[in-house]
Amino acid sequence: MKFFLDTANLDQIQEVASWGMLDGVTTNPTLVSKEKEPFEILIKKICAAVPGPVSVESVSTQAPDIVKEARELAALADNVVVKVPVCLEGIKAIKVLAEEGIPVNTTLIFSPMQALLAAKAGAKYVSPFVGRLDDIGHDGMDIVDQILTIYNVYGYDTEVIVASIRHPMHVVEAALMGADIATIPFSAFAKLIKHPLTDIGMEKFLQDWDLVKR
Ligand code: E4P
Repeated sequence: MKFFLDTANLDQIQEVASWGMLDGVTTNPTLVSKEKEPFEILIKKICAAVPGPVSVESVSTQAPDIVKEARELAALADNVVVKVPVCLEGIKAIKVLAEEGIPVNTTLIFSPMQALLAAKAGAKYVSPFVGRLDDIGHDGMDIVDQILTIYNVYGYDTEVIVASIRHPMHVVEAALMGADIATIPFSAFAKLIKHPLTDIGMEKFLQDWDLVKR
C-alpha cells in the first residue's frame, strides 16, 4: 500500500520523507493557499522533495482550458500528476490528457459511477473523499469498497487514492479493502505509529534495564 501525504507544506513533506514512508503527495488549491511561496516555485520545490507522484490541481472549468492548464502543470516537473475535478468537462479533458500520456488524478469523487466514468476516460488515479462523506452522515468507505469491486470486475488499472482522510481508522479500512493508496494529512500520518501500550512497554523495559545495569 502506498502512503501519500496530503499537504503543500514543505516542512511536513521533508519530515515524512525522512521517515522513509513517503510514496507521493497530493495538493489542492486550499492546501496551496496556506503556503507563502508563489505557486510554481512551491510546486517545483515539492516535486524535487518527493520520491513519487505529486498531484497538482487544475482550476479551469471548460475542457479545452483544463487540457491547456494540465499541459502547463505537467511541464513543471516529471512527477506532476494533474488533478481534474470529476465534472463532465473534466471527463472530456481526461480523455484528451490520457491520450497524450499526461497522468490524471480525478478528484472530488463521491460516487462509484463517477469513478467508473473517470476510469473509462483513462484516469490514472481516482480520489474518493471519504471524510467529507462521513461529515454528512454517509459511510465514506462504502464507496471505496464499491469502486474497488467495480474496477476488479472490469479489470481497470486506475489506482484508488483514499482521500479526505481524518484519522488512522480510515487508513486501516483502506488497507483492509486493498485500496492502492491512502493520502493522509500530516496530523493523521503522525498518529499511525502510536499506541499507548507501546509507550508504556518501552518505559517499563527501560526502567527494568536500569536494574540490570546496577
Ligand atoms: C485529496 O486529494 C484532497 O486534497 C484532500 O484529501 C481533501 O481532504 P479534506 O476533505 O480534508 O479537505
